[in-house]
Amino acid sequence: MAPSTATVTRLAGALGAEVEGYSLLDAFDDPQPVHDLLTQYSVVAFRDQDLDHDQHDQLTLALGGHGETPFVRHMDGHPGLVRVVKEAAESTIHNFGGSWHSDWSFQPKPPAYTILRAHDIPPHGGDTLWCSQYLAYETLSDGLKTTLDSLDVVHSAGWSYSASGILARSANGRSMQIDTTDDALEEHCHPAVITHPRSGRRSLFVNATYVLRFDGWTKAESRPLLDILYEHATQEHLTCRLRWRPGTVTIWDNRCTQHLALNDYTGFRRELFRTTVAGTTPVR
Ligand code: SIN
Repeated sequence: MAPSTATVTRLAGALGAEVEGYSLLDAFDDPQPVHDLLTQYSVVAFRDQDLDHDQHDQLTLALGGHGETPFVRHMDGHPGLVRVVKEAAESTIHNFGGSWHSDWSFQPKPPAYTILRAHDIPPHGGDTLWCSQYLAYETLSDGLKTTLDSLDVVHSAGWSYSASGILARSANGRSMQIDTTDDALEEHCHPAVITHPRSGRRSLFVNATYVLRFDGWTKAESRPLLDILYEHATQEHLTCRLRWRPGTVTIWDNRCTQHLALNDYTGFRRELFRTTVAGTTPVR
């Protein structure tokens, strides 16, 4: 149900909406309209917000409380709030969030939502893409759905955040403060297909950034099927794309989406602020 004052416009056929004429300050007392929009669209961009760091934290609390944010240093006085930034002079080949993933899926209780608030946006580029993991699951064959329904998947942050991971290897000149460590090699299992606790819909819960293998399978055995799933899940007709503006606050549901931050704005600065909202243990 949209807030009564708001204009809601779809971003694409698969998922996503943008909302104008609604202040997220209203969600502090009554977060239900925001939950409802997220249940309907999975990704919702609220335009023309003017939140400061404290209000960003308050919104996070109103929607369920902060999730745990490992590896990335938080803003002083705001545990849980991180700066997502790429400076104009940075030419990193791997930007933060630059491969398809759902946030912190390697955690025992991955975050329900992410709240990303745009501050400094390049004149072109720097869009974010999302894809619907509901539709990814629903458009598989019945045979593959049945196979996946009984499988678990092993997740880890190692490819990204370990001492020899992609973020360590591309750290030169990066302004984002990321602590890479072999603690990131810890593994956690989740079902390959989960049931969303609000919508009751089933969602494919695998992503190329954090998944290592199917539980009980070798990496070599897992790779062909995982590659099929990654390609299937990120097809263009399952995606939406957001052009950011300063003041846009986008909230997405990590339990039914993946996302990818495009790295196509060389020579310009991009800065956003991010929290995650605590989630629960994913269930089949
Ligand atoms: C992220 O993966 O959370 C960052 C997304 C973005 O910068 O657009």
